[in-house]
Amino acid sequence: MGLFSKIENMKNVGLVTGASSGIGKELARIHAAKGRDLVLVARREEALNQLKVELESEHKIQVLVIAEDLMDGGAAQRIVAALQLNDIYVEYLFNNAGLGGYGKFVDRNLVDEQRMIQLNIVALVELTHLLLPSMVEKQRGYILNTASSAGFMPGPLQSVYFATKAFVVSFSQGIARELKGTGVRVSALCPGPVKTEFEKAAGFNESPLFDKAKDAYSTAKKGYDGMEKGKVIVFNELPLGFAINWILPLVPRKTVTWMIERLQTAK
Ligand SMILES: NC(=O)c1ccc[n+]([C@@H]2O[C@H](COP(=O)([O-])OP(=O)(O)OC[C@H]3O[C@@H](n4cnc5c(N)ncnc54)[C@H](OP(=O)(O)O)[C@@H]3O)[C@@H](O)[C@H]2O)c1
Repeated sequence: MGLFSKIENMKNVGLVTGASSGIGKELARIHAAKGRDLVLVARREEALNQLKVELESEHKIQVLVIAEDLMDGGAAQRIVAALQLNDIYVEYLFNNAGLGGYGKFVDRNLVDEQRMIQLNIVALVELTHLLLPSMVEKQRGYILNTASSAGFMPGPLQSVYFATKAFVVSFSQGIARELKGTGVRVSALCPGPVKTEFEKAAGFNESPLFDKAKDAYSTAKKGYDGMEKGKVIVFNELPLGFAINWILPLVPRKTVTWMIERLQTAK
């Protein structure tokens, strides 16, 4: 557990996982710009503290930093215990932290795959399950899960990553339906490639996949706006949404798999 300064009467609290960089950092900035308080979660405490200083001074909001490794079992429970201790009700949950992993499954380290599943799936499900009951009780809440366009297709050379995102898409759609009429809305942000630290962290080496990558702010903005409108699936680019909804289902799965492998192969 990281820095934990005294916080009082936080309002419209958004909890952002993976707030130290990329899409999560921009989601936090957008939330703060609306005058809403924040809980920032990631491993890099210093980066979170820098963001806290920026957002508190620019937007006169309160920000709590919780440095946690969501790949560690029990991290979600520790985060929620810290929130309860300070009487913080999370109204907006941004399950955004996630990691890819490049390479053939057979060559990749099993522990790395397990840790990816822990972060991309297990921690997301745990945080959702722990925070959802009070949202339902208060009949108000938003959950934005950062999935990916990868969630709609198989992904050779990132097979486990794509499968984790398919889980996030399916899970989000399922609970969105279950929660209809409760006042709690669930969305999945499904971007194509975005310029963040993701590419490097996933171990990509000059893949053409990121040649036309979008920026983190516009992606986060699309996600935030879609969430507020109650859209279940949110794409960051109109053509991407069109292609996934209307073209992808018409292309044989075998061809899609071949195309994704080519796209992910180094130049
Ligand atoms: N970039 C893309 O092309 C792209 C496309 C579609 C979907 N996405 C999804 O977008 C989400 C955000 O990724 P990004 O592109 O913004 O990448 P990023 O810049 O690498 O950000 C990832 C964030 O997750 C946090 N994180 C990683 N491992 C963690 C752990 N074990 N515990 C807690 N936090 C952890 C990182 O913080 P620390 O390192 O400080 O822990 C960082 O804040 C991910 O779910 C990713 O799968 C990305």
